[in-house]
Amino acid sequence: MSLEKVTIPKLIQMKQDGEKITMLTAYDYPFARILDGAGVDILLVGDSVGSVVAGYDTTLPVTIDEMIYHTKMVTRAAQRALVVIDMPFMSYQVSVEDAVRNAGRMIKESGAEAVKLEGGQNQFDAIKAITRMDIPVMGHIGLTPQSVHAMGGYKVQGKADAARQKVMDDALAVQEAGAFSVVLEGIPLSLAQEITEKLSIPTIGIGAGIHCDGQVLVIHDLVGLFDKKRPKFVKQYVNLWDVITKAVQDYCREVKEGDFPTDAHSFH
Ligand code: KIV
Repeated sequence: MSLEKVTIPKLIQMKQDGEKITMLTAYDYPFARILDGAGVDILLVGDSVGSVVAGYDTTLPVTIDEMIYHTKMVTRAAQRALVVIDMPFMSYQVSVEDAVRNAGRMIKESGAEAVKLEGGQNQFDAIKAITRMDIPVMGHIGLTPQSVHAMGGYKVQGKADAARQKVMDDALAVQEAGAFSVVLEGIPLSLAQEITEKLSIPTIGIGAGIHCDGQVLVIHDLVGLFDKKRPKFVKQYVNLWDVITKAVQDYCREVKEGDFPTDAHSFH
């Protein structure tokens, strides 16, 4: 792993060189330290914090203040990775002025280097206006969780011909508006491949197959710290839920039985 700081020009170069980009979500200092030290290229402070940390059923209740609070913990920890902050529901949809003002505030107060927002052709003006302020934007198209009610659930997008064309048009719109990269979520892998070949900006896939320029997962899914339904695209690399449960059970038993603290943990 190169120790060189990850920048936006570097990410574009990685696409050109065919070097895969790694992105994971992070919401606090210890996780951000671990992921940054392990060599993850991009830390996304996702609004998925609402689901995996705050316990909401959707990402919709998450606020700008909560996003800034979590992102400050991550930017304090990150040394190499690029830090991206998610714009939460209703922080950019009402007007372009709102979008620019909120993006500016989120960058200023959190220390993040880029914002991410969901939508394609419908967010063209917002992405264009934010990038005109020299705030880098990562797009997010396909299955966009903030549209859960409009989509009728978390469903794979772009399957039928017309829907496929819409996702392709969204990808082109996001690039044309000035985004530096785009997340492709929950779309067929052949469509993700077509988009990745057509765009000059990197595509970061989640549930979009192998052909994207990079991949992203929610860290709590990767390490087994989420107790609700796990989508098909998740790979769980370790089950920390069980590891932590066992450690806590051992602690409780040792306290009850008088085996902790020992002399080694005591002051004389
Ligand atoms: O909020 C989030 O974590 C995301 C990723 C899953 C892409 O948007």
